[in-house]
Amino acid sequence: MYSANTSSGLRGDYTKARADFTVEQRDHVYGEADHALWRRLYARQAQLLQDYACREFREGLARTDAADGVPELDAVNARLAAASGWRLVAVPGFIPDEPFFRLLAARQFPVTVWLRKPEEFDYLVEPDIFHDFFGHVPMLFDRRFGDYVQRYGEQALRLAHLGAVPLLARLYWYTVEFGLIESDEGLRAYGAGILSSGGETPHAVESPAPLRVRLEAARCMGTAYRIDSFQKTYFVIRRLDELAELMTRDLPPLIAALREQQALSPERLYAGDEPVPPRRGRLAA
Ligand SMILES: [Fe+2]
Repeated sequence: MYSANTSSGLRGDYTKARADFTVEQRDHVYGEADHALWRRLYARQAQLLQDYACREFREGLARTDAADGVPELDAVNARLAAASGWRLVAVPGFIPDEPFFRLLAARQFPVTVWLRKPEEFDYLVEPDIFHDFFGHVPMLFDRRFGDYVQRYGEQALRLAHLGAVPLLARLYWYTVEFGLIESDEGLRAYGAGILSSGGETPHAVESPAPLRVRLEAARCMGTAYRIDSFQKTYFVIRRLDELAELMTRDLPPLIAALREQQALSPERLYAGDEPVPPRRGRLAA
């Protein structure tokens, strides 16, 4: 889930949305074909997780108990609240920046209500409930990761007047959506954009094609990203605590410096980068 500046031309039904853009999930009806499609999507991704997802993601996914059909958000909320204080709220699709950040700052994660069509099994223009739920909810069971996402929302609200939103959006993209972690199990993914995609999951971890560099705040926030292909650069952390720590730094001077700088290319390394090799696996040359 990320935000968009306008709801025009978007796929969801915004007519029943409240002022904060949330809706009632029960107003959206899922048929047996939706549940069957969900089970296929879930099964395809779940079999990749043991090799490619970090332990926290795998443990969080097990706690969602969502293998059998499109989940009811309220049913998951009791367990999620007890684990990390987060709550899932239903939304029609992309929502504007400010309400998005307000929800995150309140430890509420927006999940799109609609599910893709069977012909969109592998490719989707806007995030649906499979991406938002399967990709994002498992990590929200981890309090360290949850603290990061909440602080991210708070900082985005606080620093928006400095022009920070496009820079923070890159950080969100390269961590919450496309983050990798070097854990005691080797290189693994924790990002939702990776782990909800059948193709990008092995690519991000094992392919020799993309660059992988150690996450550093200025480098990451300074780097442009692609939305129409697999990522060209992935940023790698060592510990989940690193993320929340980033949000406690003195960000305004960093924002001011980065605003003056041209975006870095995701297709090359820069001086000071600490490259991380791909994990050896079936995609390695
Ligand atoms: Fe997402």
